[in-house]
Amino acid sequence: MSHLFPTYARWDVTPIKAKGAYLTAKDGKEYLDFTSGISVCNLGHAPENVKEAVEDQLNQFWHTSNLFQIELQEDVAKQLADASELDLVFFGNSGAEANEAALKLVRKSTGRTKVITFVDSFHGRTFATMAATGQDKIKTGFGPMLESFEYVPMNDIESLKAAMDDNTAAIMFEVIQGEGGINEGDADFLKEAERLAHENESLVIIDEIQTGIGRTGKPFAFQHIGLNPDIVSVAKGIASGFPLGAIIGRSSLSEAFSAGSHGSTFGGNPVALAAAKETLSTIFNDSFLTDVTKKGEKLRYLLDEALKEETIFKKLKGKGLMVGIELNEEAGPFIAKAREHNLLILTAGTNVIRLLPPLNVTEEEIEKAVRVIADILKK
Ligand SMILES: Cc1ncc(COP(=O)(O)O)c(C=O)c1O
Repeated sequence: MSHLFPTYARWDVTPIKAKGAYLTAKDGKEYLDFTSGISVCNLGHAPENVKEAVEDQLNQFWHTSNLFQIELQEDVAKQLADASELDLVFFGNSGAEANEAALKLVRKSTGRTKVITFVDSFHGRTFATMAATGQDKIKTGFGPMLESFEYVPMNDIESLKAAMDDNTAAIMFEVIQGEGGINEGDADFLKEAERLAHENESLVIIDEIQTGIGRTGKPFAFQHIGLNPDIVSVAKGIASGFPLGAIIGRSSLSEAFSAGSHGSTFGGNPVALAAAKETLSTIFNDSFLTDVTKKGEKLRYLLDEALKEETIFKKLKGKGLMVGIELNEEAGPFIAKAREHNLLILTAGTNVIRLLPPLNVTEEEIEKAVRVIADILKK
């Protein structure tokens, strides 16, 4: 009998080792991993440079508390601030915790309570982030929800205008909805949404937890559109698999997060930060990111060539190495089929196969994955 709560529909795969784009299971099977721990292991499994940085930190100190000056926190905060053109960072341990911090910060700094989010969004599983999430299935049985959230369809500017009022603290969105189905916000819509929010003296929170840290070919997905958010939340890929989340915000918000206003015992743990510093210095680099874009284009081109005549194939979605294959039927059964062919992939929404390979995936690995996908979708 398992002593774990059955919160996850687990696969019949027990990892014993993982390196680069490959994962070895207890039964000896070796999988090509195009899930990257759900956009976490962006440099592949156990990258050597990150491993060395973590080992160095393990030999120095593991944890003190946030009563101390932690130099690594300053270093990683600067990396995040420089890459986002924002100013100040608060560290937590996860995506939901980052979004919680963002939601608390916008309430306190504006004195308003309402936050507008989008239908089909996903922002986390804690009480505030579950309430922020625009999907009923996430909330079933857990009500009543935290009040003051309103949900509008993405790319519908009139609904957004109608929802915005003088109690609106912020709008909050993913530039590309990950869990919801690789749904892209139109550039014009997102720009206008941001303009309307700022005109209304509301703040803009962009959830880059899945899209950030180079996944789409830029440090953050909002940079493809030239948005100017007030707060950006990050987690997942920030530390190559060590638990770390953060918000990056404007310096004008600092008063609302004064000493004693918010905190987290483990937030900004030195071991996770050592991993983050090395991860970010590898990824936040022009030639690395240009490569992500090129590999994304190659993956998309090969998928399109392989699938365009198939009736089951609808279209490709996403950006960079966040790729959705929209089907005319449910994607779930194909995820299991891919595993039979030693390929690990994900769903997004109901009809979308989601590919999140490591950002340093090789061309050969891309070709191999496309061959399997073409094979299972043709049968
Ligand atoms: C866009 C987005 N926001 C928030 C979260 C929640 O992150 P975590 O599971 O680290 O709490 C996720 C996780 O999938 C996500 O994709």
